[in-house]
Amino acid sequence: MSNDPTPGSNTANSLWGGRFGAGPSAIMQEINASIGVDKRLWRQDIQGSRAHVAMLAKQGIVSAEDAAAIDKGLQQIAAEYADGKLVENLALEDIHLHVETRLKEIIGPAAGRLHTARSRNDQVAVDFRLWVKAACAEADAALKGLITALLTRAEEHADTIMPGFTHLQVAQPVTLGHHLMAYVEMLSRDRGRFADAQRRMDECPLGAAALAGTSFPIDRQMTAKALGFAGGPTRNSLDSVSDRDFALEYLSATHMTGLHLSRLAEEMIIWASQPFGFITLPDAWSTGSSIMPQKRNPDAAELVRAKAGAFLGAYTRLSTVMKGLPLAYSKDMQDDKVTVFAAHDDLGLCLASMTGMVGTVTFNKAKMRAAANSGFSTATDLADWLVRVANVPFREAHEITGHCVKAAEAKGTDLNGLTDAELAAIDKRITKKVRDVLSVEASVASRTSFGGTAPANVRAAITAARAKL
Ligand code: ARG
Repeated sequence: MSNDPTPGSNTANSLWGGRFGAGPSAIMQEINASIGVDKRLWRQDIQGSRAHVAMLAKQGIVSAEDAAAIDKGLQQIAAEYADGKLVENLALEDIHLHVETRLKEIIGPAAGRLHTARSRNDQVAVDFRLWVKAACAEADAALKGLITALLTRAEEHADTIMPGFTHLQVAQPVTLGHHLMAYVEMLSRDRGRFADAQRRMDECPLGAAALAGTSFPIDRQMTAKALGFAGGPTRNSLDSVSDRDFALEYLSATHMTGLHLSRLAEEMIIWASQPFGFITLPDAWSTGSSIMPQKRNPDAAELVRAKAGAFLGAYTRLSTVMKGLPLAYSKDMQDDKVTVFAAHDDLGLCLASMTGMVGTVTFNKAKMRAAANSGFSTATDLADWLVRVANVPFREAHEITGHCVKAAEAKGTDLNGLTDAELAAIDKRITKKVRDVLSVEASVASRTSFGGTAPANVRAAITAARAKL
C-alpha cells in the first residue's frame, strides 16, 4: 500500500498544480483530503470569502464588477450547500478548494480573483475561529439550560435532607438543594471558562496570508469588523496562521465541563442503584436489559461519565499535534478539526442529556432522609453543642462524642436513641437540651455560615445565582 503507484488522478491539481507533471497517488489523495471533516466549515468559509472580496473591492484590488459576481456566486453556493448539494471530491482536498472550484463553475475565470492577498492558511484560521467562537456561545447556552434546571430542582428541594458524604461515608446531613447548588457553582465556572476563551479568540487572522502578510493594500480592520471580531485583526502574521490555542482552550473548557458532568452522572448512577434508592430516573432516561426483565439502567448517565475520557482525549490529541510544530503552518494542523468537532458534538449530547435527567428525575425524600440519619451523622453537632453550651474545648468535645457514638453503636441505635441518663453517664455536662441539635433537621438548619447548607442559605444562593444568570 505504501508504495501504491496508482495515480488518484492523471492530472495535477488545477488550483495549485502548476509546477506538477502528474497527479497524486490515490493514497496521497486520501490522507491529504479533509473535506469529509471540514465540510462543516462551509458557512464560515463563505462568510470569510464574502468579507474578503468586499474588502478587496473597497481597496481597489479587484473591480466592483468582479467582486459583485464573486459575491453573488458565493451566495448561490451557500444556498446549494444548505440544500445538501455539496459534492465531495477528494481531489479538491478541503472545503476551501470545493467552494472556489464551484465558484469558478458558476462565474468563470473571475473566481480566480477571490484568492488575491489570501492563503488557505489564513482562510482556515479564520473559518475555524469563527466556528469555535460560535461553539463557545453554544456551550454557554447549553450550560445555562442545565443550570436553570438545577436551580429549579434546588429550589424545590431547599429543605430536603440527604446525607452529605466524605470518603463516600455518611458525614453530615446536608440539603439536597445545597448539593445541587454545588453543581451550579461548577457549571458557572465552566461558563466563565468558555466566555474567557471566546474573548481571547475574538481576533481576526484573515490577511496574514500564507505566513508573512501580503504586499496588497488590504484593510484588515474592515474584514475583522465585518466578521464580528471584537478584538480587531491579529497582530502577527506568523502567529495568526500557526496558533491553535483557541481550539485548545475550547477543548480545555470542554474537558473541565465534561469532568463536572461526569461527577454528577456518577452520583446519579450511585443514587439510582437499589442499595441507595435516592432517585428514580423516568422511563425516558432509562434503558432495559435484554436478559433481566426487571432492569432499569441509567445508561445516559453512564455515557456522560464515559465521555469525560473522550474530552480529555481530544485535548491530549490536539496538544500533542501542536507540541513542537515549528512556525508557521504545517499540515499536521489540519487534524485540529476532527477533534474539536467530535468534542463539540459529545458536549452537546452530554449537556442535553444531563438537563433532561436533572429536570425529570424523582428524588426519593424518605430514602434520603433515612440515610442522612444513619452513620451518626449529627455527631459533629453534639461536639459543637458541648463547645457552645458547656464551654468544652473542641478536642475534648470530640472525644466525649466519640464515646457517645460507641455507646449508641453498642446499643444499636442512633445518637438520639440514647437516653438522657445514658448521655449524662458519659459526660454529666450533656443535658436533655442537646436534643435540639441531634436531629438531622436541626443539624442542617444550624449550618447558616456563609456557603453552608441551611435551607435559608440555599434559597439565598438560588436567588443570587438567578440574578447572575
Ligand atoms: N485543509 C487545510 C487545513 O485544514 C487548509 C490549509 C491548507 N494549507 C496548506 N498550506 N496546505 O489545515
